[in-house]
Amino acid sequence: MGDEVVTLRDEVLRLTREYTGALAAVSTEEALEEFRIQWLGRKGKVTQLLRKLGTLPPEERPAAGQLLNRLREEIETALAERTRVVAAAAQEARIRAERLDLTLPGRRQPLGHLHPITLVLGEIKRFFMGLGYEVVEGPEVETDYYNFQALNVPKDHPARDMQATFYLAGELVLRTQTSPVQIRTMEARQPPVRIIAPGKVYRNDADVTHSPMFHQVEGLVVDRGIRFSDLKGTLAAFARALFGEDRAVRFRPSYFPFTEPSAEMDVSCVICGGRGCRVCKGEGWLEILGAGMVHPRVLEMVGYDPEEVSGFAFGLGVERVVMLRYGIDDIRLFFENDRRFLAQF
Ligand code: PHE
Repeated sequence: MGDEVVTLRDEVLRLTREYTGALAAVSTEEALEEFRIQWLGRKGKVTQLLRKLGTLPPEERPAAGQLLNRLREEIETALAERTRVVAAAAQEARIRAERLDLTLPGRRQPLGHLHPITLVLGEIKRFFMGLGYEVVEGPEVETDYYNFQALNVPKDHPARDMQATFYLAGELVLRTQTSPVQIRTMEARQPPVRIIAPGKVYRNDADVTHSPMFHQVEGLVVDRGIRFSDLKGTLAAFARALFGEDRAVRFRPSYFPFTEPSAEMDVSCVICGGRGCRVCKGEGWLEILGAGMVHPRVLEMVGYDPEEVSGFAFGLGVERVVMLRYGIDDIRLFFENDRRFLAQF
């Protein structure tokens, strides 16, 4: 073996120690690439040695070539192995960084809840549905005919002044009451009729107990042989269901153009229990609804025969009921949407 090859053999041994150490220190993908360029690249250490083969005497070239090619293969294998280790370590680091702690408490999204008016409306509906009533609705923009005339309030009748009406263009009004739904229902079907009609109504009125928009629940029952005692029994049971068994109710005579006789129902004051206080203005009673036997003229106008059928109707102020239920003394609180108020229900 020639001297040149012996020297080369020493060189290869030296390089083997060198690349092994260098590769062991490589721990990133960039460093791997740097290592590859330094050792196997076009100007790399092994490549440079291979280039020198041509300067050796021809008989020594095969042995020298073999030596260098083996070194090259060895480095390639070691590099591939190191690449695998580095990739695995990188993957593990990534997984560790992305790990989720499933035992951490979540970020809570506070739950909203129903508006007090919606809550009480739900109670009212459930009570009447339990008695077999159907829930129906009607338009908030009404014609003068349905809001007044069909309810026995002709044009220029003084009873129009009972309600501060918002008149719209033509014959239209914002309904001042849910009573027009009585008419629409009776026009559309034959007795027996047993409905409630909840919804928004509008009057040009605003102070602590009046809002220009508020809610009513209309009730209507028409059948053969309906009597005032049916009205009394139904509404007294309703008041007890909503305000408690020990709540007293009373009926006072009143006037509505579309009922005869007419009444208003009071419940004993929920604040003072009847002894008299500011809320009930010393009376001990609070008014919650108007009611009466459907006027024969109203029955005739929808094509019913007042000799055959009779009925009772009532109209309940929902805000009123909510205020009494919770002891709220200003109706405007319902519509200001102050969360400090709403969160209490
Ligand atoms: N609509 C009447 C009002 O708003 C209430 C009512 C309804 C009275 C049904 C009698 C019968 O004042």
